[in-house]
Amino acid sequence: MEISRIRALRGPNLWSRHTSIEAIVSCTEAECDINALPEFEPRLRTRFPDIKFLEPAAGQPFSLAHALESAALCLQAQAGCPVTFSRSVATVEAGTYQVVVEYTEEQVGRLAFDLAEQLIRSALEDTPFDLESALKRLQELDEDIRLGPSTGSIVQAAVARGIPYRRLTEGSMVQFGWGSRQLRIQAAETGFTSAIAESIAQDKELTKTLLDAAGVPVPNGRSVSDAEDAWKAACEIGSPVVVKPRDGNQGKGVAVNMKTREDVLNAYAVAHAISEDVIVERYISGHDYRLLVVGTQLVAAARREPPQVTGDGEHNIAQLIEQVNRDPRRGDGHATSLTKIRLDDIARATLAKQGYTAESVPPKGVRVVLRNNANLSTGGTATDVTEDVHPDLAARAVEAAQMVGLDICGVDVVCETVIQPLEEQGGGIVEVNAAPGLRMHLQPSYGKGRAVGEAIISTMFKDGDDGRIPVVAVAGTNGKTTTVKLIAHLLTANSHRVGMTGTDGVYISGKRIDTGDCSGPRSARNVLMHPDVDAAVFETARGGVLREGLGFDRCNVAVVTNIGEGDHLGLNFITTVEDLAVVKRVIVQNVAPGGTAVLNAADPMVASMASVCPGSVTFFARDVHHPVMTMHRAQGRRVVYVDGDAIVAAEGRNAQRIPLADIPLTRGGTIGFQVENAMAAIGAAWGLGIDWDVVRKGLLSFVNDAQSAPGRFNLFSYKGATLIADYGHNPDAIQALVNAVESMPAKRRSVVISGAGDRRDIDLRRQTEILGDAFDSVVLYEDACQRGRAEGEVVGLLRDGLANAKRARSVKEIKGEFAAIDAALADLAEGDLCLILIDQVEEALAYIAEKVKQ
Ligand SMILES: Nc1ncnc2c1ncn2[C@@H]1O[C@H](COP(=O)(O)OP(=O)(O)O)[C@@H](O)[C@H]1O
Ligand SMILES: [Mg+2]
Repeated sequence: MEISRIRALRGPNLWSRHTSIEAIVSCTEAECDINALPEFEPRLRTRFPDIKFLEPAAGQPFSLAHALESAALCLQAQAGCPVTFSRSVATVEAGTYQVVVEYTEEQVGRLAFDLAEQLIRSALEDTPFDLESALKRLQELDEDIRLGPSTGSIVQAAVARGIPYRRLTEGSMVQFGWGSRQLRIQAAETGFTSAIAESIAQDKELTKTLLDAAGVPVPNGRSVSDAEDAWKAACEIGSPVVVKPRDGNQGKGVAVNMKTREDVLNAYAVAHAISEDVIVERYISGHDYRLLVVGTQLVAAARREPPQVTGDGEHNIAQLIEQVNRDPRRGDGHATSLTKIRLDDIARATLAKQGYTAESVPPKGVRVVLRNNANLSTGGTATDVTEDVHPDLAARAVEAAQMVGLDICGVDVVCETVIQPLEEQGGGIVEVNAAPGLRMHLQPSYGKGRAVGEAIISTMFKDGDDGRIPVVAVAGTNGKTTTVKLIAHLLTANSHRVGMTGTDGVYISGKRIDTGDCSGPRSARNVLMHPDVDAAVFETARGGVLREGLGFDRCNVAVVTNIGEGDHLGLNFITTVEDLAVVKRVIVQNVAPGGTAVLNAADPMVASMASVCPGSVTFFARDVHHPVMTMHRAQGRRVVYVDGDAIVAAEGRNAQRIPLADIPLTRGGTIGFQVENAMAAIGAAWGLGIDWDVVRKGLLSFVNDAQSAPGRFNLFSYKGATLIADYGHNPDAIQALVNAVESMPAKRRSVVISGAGDRRDIDLRRQTEILGDAFDSVVLYEDACQRGRAEGEVVGLLRDGLANAKRARSVKEIKGEFAAIDAALADLAEGDLCLILIDQVEEALAYIAEKVKQ
């Protein structure tokens, strides 16, 4: 068994909507059916008893590739990843399979494939395989990479509402929504969280001043300049007091319930070691509560208890900690609902203050606290008290968050009980936190978990807002780029700022921000990340779909123009036009439920994609009597077709007529393939709900760049053939023309060319070298200006360039530009394409225009 290529499909793909690893696996003949390897299965099952064999497709034997598939899926599932999809498909090459296995984290999926391969080999060779360590590696990697519980809860809530998300970092920075509708979070902070509010929350002194000003109870106190000043402040306030860093966190350097001068002086030194600025404030007796405010609501509250053990009169403190840590809910990090209690320097110091060491045996029933703060991450516990909070107390917490200006705020309250207002019990708010941890509310150690993620998402996105912008995907063999540009133009006419990708770059509101072939998922994702994009139109080439899947989870409109033989077959096991159709179908399979697929009814393979579309279908074809069109129309569904001199968009009894004369792209309907592209774009605009007046205006104002200037890609239609006139006369221009022309459909291709005498020999030859590989027939002519060259010299060089032509079979030599044009036109049949490289621009264009009229 050989694995020759591994890919991560990061979006909806050929096989499914799931993110998956795809591998090419070749098996020897014996390996194609494990029944031929009698020892293999029992050995595999001893090594991995829980492996489930996934049934191969009907009639196929179970191969080693299938065993690899089963192992890669089951290893991930055993490690706790929620994966279910996998498949192995035989390719046209005997013994070679495409093996596809879902993942939730790409790196975990890749590791699972590695380990699965090792497992298969160990079963083949009867060598040991350490299942336990394999699963542990997967689990650890997954825990390391996947989103933490706080961010994860927000993402889950978004997904439940259909809001797309994307991780921007390996950490907890996530984008929700697309383009101009996107919002970002980082853990429990949002794009709305003000940096100033965050700074205020960092400063406990300033926070208290502001809260006090808003009438929220806080422990009075002040900043102190040195140890003596701390004691002075303690005397002013009256003992007991709290000494703490002005900008600390996680309870570091906080000393509570300080009464004597000596205590206060020591506490100052400890706090000062953490921060330059130290504050002294009144000590409030009672419990620690954390109130979570999101927007203007209190959404959760928890009582927090510092890590502690209770004496049994037998075991020492170290042993008691060990006992507590045996609780399976206590993990090492943030992933579990509780964290292990650490017996470190802070714990030892806290014990010392209570007159203990780790070896002391506390009497039965005596509570020994190991830390002064109740953070879950240092071993504390949380009990949900959300339902107990007195409305006045809740109101104070919300006022505190508002005063500081935090949209998501963790409010630390010290008081005896939350069932009473703070004022009645002398309680107070000791600080507020930006980016509060959510774990204590999601999975409290005791009591009910709260839907905190949902609360955060619903303050970011109003009901019914899923953060999406309209997305159009266009696939097909010919006409993609024009269709994409026209749809983008119609959206622009509809006041959208459009992001557009295609084979010639990425455009944002008409400005090119990337060049080259940008028809893959990376460019699509870049557009969806851009803040100034209200709608997106993506040319979706098959390369990207095969390599990585789509760059979006679903689209509002999918357009498939046609499927031609012209595409390169043979790559990636795409050997037939049917295989190609399966690739282009992916965008149709991923139309949103309320969306539309715009399909060419005249192309049977495109028309048949209707059956996989989760949304509705609009068919287009020139001929409204095409059976697919007739049927669809009779069912009252949307069709777009040509009737006389207009394109008609009809649905039941309603119809819109748009005269071809008002769609300059089609040259009054004379350029057949542009009529097709216009119909496709009209179908897309209709699916997007753009007003018909806007569609008409947009169609009228759309000019293909190539059309606007005389001599630059001027298109004509002649007896059903397409003529392109251009004055390009150097190898680069000719290469660009060939590229442009290659994407246009044509039966036979011919070209008319002359050479100017002032060009280098090598350039003259190069021109026809390029053309000879792209055209079936070439007409050479000698133009007016030979600039000192001997008669026949230039044409001779052009002829030389055709010596090794891959395609050109017919070469004609004609004297005079008009005669050459006549000769080329005479050979044209319907569906052909002819490129005329003109010399005397105005005269030649006038001559062609006259010919076309006849
Ligand atoms: N004035 C106070 N009275 C009583 N306990 C306090 C007071 N200030 C702080 N504490 C205790 O110390 C803990 C940590 O203090 P806090 O101001 O919240 O700082 P941190 O930013 O380190 O969390 C609090 O959760 C509370 O238990
Ligand atoms: Mg705190």
